[in-house]
This record gives sequence, C-alpha cells and structure tokens, in this order.
Amino acid sequence: SQYETILVEKQSDGVTLVTLNRPKALNALNSQVLGELIEAFADYDGDDSQRCLVLTGSEKAFAAGADIKEMQDQGFADMYKANFFGGWEKVTATRKPWIAAVAGYALGGGCEVAMMADFIIAADSAKFGQPEIKLGVTPGMGGSQRLTHAVGKAKAMHMCLTGEMMGAEEALSSGLVAKVVPADKLLDEAMATARTIAGMAPLAAMANKEMVNAAYEMTLAEGIKFERRLFHGLFGTEDQSEGMKAFVEKRPGNWKGK
Ligand code: HXC
Repeated sequence: SQYETILVEKQSDGVTLVTLNRPKALNALNSQVLGELIEAFADYDGDDSQRCLVLTGSEKAFAAGADIKEMQDQGFADMYKANFFGGWEKVTATRKPWIAAVAGYALGGGCEVAMMADFIIAADSAKFGQPEIKLGVTPGMGGSQRLTHAVGKAKAMHMCLTGEMMGAEEALSSGLVAKVVPADKLLDEAMATARTIAGMAPLAAMANKEMVNAAYEMTLAEGIKFERRLFHGLFGTEDQSEGMKAFVEKRPGNWKGK
C-alpha cells in the first residue's frame, strides 16, 4: 500500500475501512499520519464507488493523542509558521459520511479526531479525555469546541481542567457518542452501520450531513432556510424521483448518485 501509518481497505459494498496503525505508539498522531489521512479521505471523497468510511484504531487505543515526542521541542514560531494541526481541516472538509469506531483510549488529539467524525460508535472499553493540561497545554485540534458542543460546558470544562477520562456509558448518556457496543462487536457494528449509510442515495447522504453540521454554524432561522433550500435542491435529482417511485412500488431504490 502507499501508506505506512494507516491501513486502507476499500470494500465492494461501498465502505472504506481506515485503521490507524502505529500500535507501538498507541496510534499517536504525527505529521505522517495526518498526511496519509488527508490523502485517504480525499481519495474516498472523490471515489464514486465508496459511500461511507469507518475510521478505527486498535483494541487498546483509538489514538492516545497527538505525538508528544514530535511536539516536545517545537517553539511558537515553528508551530505558528507551520500552522501546526491546520491540516486537520482538510479531513473535516470531507463531504461524504464517515464514522469513528472507538475502542480503548481516545485521548487528546485522539478524542478530537473521533469528534471530527459525523458520529462516534464506541466499544464499552472506550475512554475519552482531553489531558493536554497535564502537558502544560490545551486541546489544539478542536477539542475545546467540539467537546463543549457535544457534552455541554460543565462536563467539557471538567474534562479539560482535570484531564480525567470519560467512559463509554457516560459518553453515551452525555451525547458524545451515538451508540455503545461490546468491544468484540465494535467493528461489526460500525461496518454494518456504514453499509446502511452506503445503501442510501449518495447526494441525500451528503445533504443530510451538510445540514446537520450547519446547525453548529448558523442561527435557527438561517439553518432552517439552509435546510429547505437543500431539500428543494434534491428535487432536481434523479434519485429523488427514483426514491419516491420505489416507495410507491414497494421496492428498494436503485440510486444513481445524480
Ligand atoms: C507519543 C505516545 C503517546 C502520545 C502514548 N505514547 N501516547 N507517544 N505521543 N500521545 C507511547 C508511549 O510513549 C509509549 O512509548 C507507548 O506509546 C505505550 O504507552 P504507555 O504509556 O507505555 O502505555 P500505558 O502505560 O498503557 O498508558 C497508556 C496511556 C498513556 C494512558 C494512553 O500512554 C498516556 O497517557 N499517553 C498520553 C496521553 C496524552 O497526554 N494525550 C494527549 C497528547 S497531546 P514507549 O516508546 O515508551 O514504549 C494532544 C493534543 C494536542 O493530543 C494539542 C496540543 C498539544
């Protein structure tokens, strides 16, 4: 494969499985991992045969954070000039759906990457945390914002200021994850969910993702208008005619992605 720190498997059912693969460093996210993820996600986004993606790690760690060994000798000028972590915006620019399947540690950057996904499915072994304060810093890949949106100020502030981890059940009840399953079922569950999404009309999947995300950027009135315009727009697609015809004829839709 063209990658060294991730494994990419494109399946015939339209689901791409990306596995973080630096087991000795608990999948710590260095620049190489970021570069390879940017490439793999862009490739997925542009490949019409692929309709959902699952990002996962290992049983022990989804990812134990940004690579501390890579960062430790950096100064402000290095970080600022390189716009360190800015590249993650290329991952979040992915327009097609993707899921994070999290087992074990999702700490610091690991928690932040999981929160970049459209949603998280967690193993019962999952542990989420933003322990950067223990390193003398703060989250730097969106954690202070996305965690606060997900679980509210009290829990987000508590996690950022103490560095304490949140387990899977609390993550579920707090709204950080969509579902919790036994660890040995995690990948099956995530892949089955991804296949369900891959079976939907592709443009409708993109539009649903885009409008839910808009809820974080817009006022309610703007967001509702944005939703309605996208909804109207889908009535210009063949898949809308097909989807409604298929319902009336009591058969599954045969999607064209146009
Ligand atoms: C680089 C890491 C790493 C990391 C673990 N490793 N996390 N290397 N960056 N974030 C390496 C260890 O150095 C060790 O390498 C190997 O992985 C195994 O880790 P251990 O600590 O020996 O495992 P264990 O005792 O099981 O403890 C697991 C752990 C612990 C609790 C997850 O590794 C840990 O606390 N990691 C750091 C978590 C963290 O602070 N993450 C936030 C990073 S900052 P060797 O070579 O010794 O075998 C961040 C935010 C960025 O992500 C924003 C700005 C900074």
